[in-house]
Amino acid sequence: MDRKEFIKKGSCGICIALSSGFLLSALLDSCKTPLGVVKTSSKEDIVLIPVKEFEQSDYKLVRVNNYDYDLAVQKNANGTYTTLVLLCSHAGQPLTRTGKNYYCALHGSQFDHEGHVTKGPAERDMIKLTTQIINDQISIQLKKTS
Ligand code: FES
Repeated sequence: MDRKEFIKKGSCGICIALSSGFLLSALLDSCKTPLGVVKTSSKEDIVLIPVKEFEQSDYKLVRVNNYDYDLAVQKNANGTYTTLVLLCSHAGQPLTRTGKNYYCALHGSQFDHEGHVTKGPAERDMIKLTTQIINDQISIQLKKTS
């Protein structure tokens, strides 16, 4: 069988099927939640996250439906949890995690892992939310308390 016959007799069908399967797989992979991100919702301004989400990592980025900014939830060495709002206190831009710290791409403010300003122009620390463990759930109060 020469090359033209091979192509005519269905090898293209096989190629199309293989490539479409590959494309479908790649498309589905792109829809997955990135590792380390927890998508959830709140009820009466409370977000609940199972403690088991932190079995593999001490840090999770939490994305809450209908809440304007992501949350950085950190498991502390003493077993407590800290939640910071990824909001720059200078002019309200979202923050990006860099290593264990946070960075604002708009004007360059930087914050340490506890949310304290380490470089301006921001002058105020990041917002810290009340976070506690209740029955194997991490409970985060979305209203600012400090
Ligand atoms: S908004 Fe973040 S540094 Fe200005």
